[in-house]
Amino acid sequence: MVLVLRLVKKIKKSMSIDLNQKIYVAGHRGMVGSAIVRALEARGFTNIITKTHAQLELEDQTAVKSFFETEKPDQVYLAAARVGGIYANNTFPAEFIYGNLMVQSNVIHQAFLSGVKKLLFLGSSCIYPRLAPQPMSEEALLTGKLEPTNEPYAIAKIAGIKMCESYNRQYGQSHGVDYRSVMPTNLYGPGDNYHPENSHVIPALIRRFHEAKVANAPEVVIWGTGTPRREFLYVDDMAAASLFVMQLDKTIYDSQTEPMQSHINVGFGNDVTINELAHAVAKATGYQGNISFDPTKPDGSPRKWMNSECLNKLGWSPKVALENGLQQAYQEYVDSLVS
Ligand SMILES: NC(=O)c1ccc[n+]([C@@H]2O[C@H](COP(=O)([O-])OP(=O)(O)OC[C@H]3O[C@@H](n4cnc5c(N)ncnc54)[C@H](OP(=O)(O)O)[C@@H]3O)[C@@H](O)[C@H]2O)c1
Repeated sequence: MVLVLRLVKKIKKSMSIDLNQKIYVAGHRGMVGSAIVRALEARGFTNIITKTHAQLELEDQTAVKSFFETEKPDQVYLAAARVGGIYANNTFPAEFIYGNLMVQSNVIHQAFLSGVKKLLFLGSSCIYPRLAPQPMSEEALLTGKLEPTNEPYAIAKIAGIKMCESYNRQYGQSHGVDYRSVMPTNLYGPGDNYHPENSHVIPALIRRFHEAKVANAPEVVIWGTGTPRREFLYVDDMAAASLFVMQLDKTIYDSQTEPMQSHINVGFGNDVTINELAHAVAKATGYQGNISFDPTKPDGSPRKWMNSECLNKLGWSPKVALENGLQQAYQEYVDSLVS
């Protein structure tokens, strides 16, 4: 306990930061990137640079090179990625592997060439084998077969982690390179994708319960048995964790990671069943009808839960409880319908 308190004290002391450093947030219009920009602004950072996809195609090596040569940022948050649900991953596997490998290779390599010392790469829990022991800890990486539906995406994300590690190993001492990776669990919140066919479970449920409420529908039927367990983190908590990991003193980060296992999980800490989640979303949206399940439809894996002990030990934990996060997400969804 005393050791943990000492570590937390040391971490806090190490976090005195230059608020004028130039920070590039790649993917700032996405759910995670926009939350990182909000967090940086709230923290007082004044020199944040962003480019829309239309202004800067990150798959284009020449464009990325020219951007880094001109802007020469001090730090990079790499939250740009081609992201999608099972349908998109399964239908466009070539675009998912090519797009993500290109974006991250261009950004990481050009960042290095332009002298960026600190970079944070955003990965995903799908990097872990589909049968990884629960909760999934950082050591589970590359210990088994991946979930086939999003394997190309996961392989790109694993390559991103390994790229950061390789640059640290080769250029850490000589160039002061310190590139880190965080692996978020399922995220939700402002900026989420509410597309009717291609959204993750929370935005899909928010939309369905809202529409059922407006239509006075007596029942909402949900796919599967309702028993699988999933973990969810509010996106502003994810952004806070990203800043926390980026700002950790190098000796502290190194003390909790390995040169060839340097990624850190970011989870909520506990999970809920889909049944519990559905009732929580119904409550947040004010839907009062019946909720039932269709067990003839697939459940997916029984449990996906991250082990976040490493990050917790370093002194970070989430602040937004699921119930509050769902209310905020629902409010944002309703606001987006009228704007
Ligand atoms: N959402 C989750 O539940 C979740 C969970 C775990 C990890 N993550 C990770 O977090 C990161 C961000 O995810 P997100 O949910 O914020 O995704 P998102 O909302 O889809 O945002 C991704 C952003 O990247 C931009 N982008 C994609 N390809 C680009 C390209 N070739 N050039 C320039 N910009 C490009 C997109 O712009 P356009 O929209 O204009 O294409 C968008 O603004 C990803 O690495 C993802 O793996 C997300």
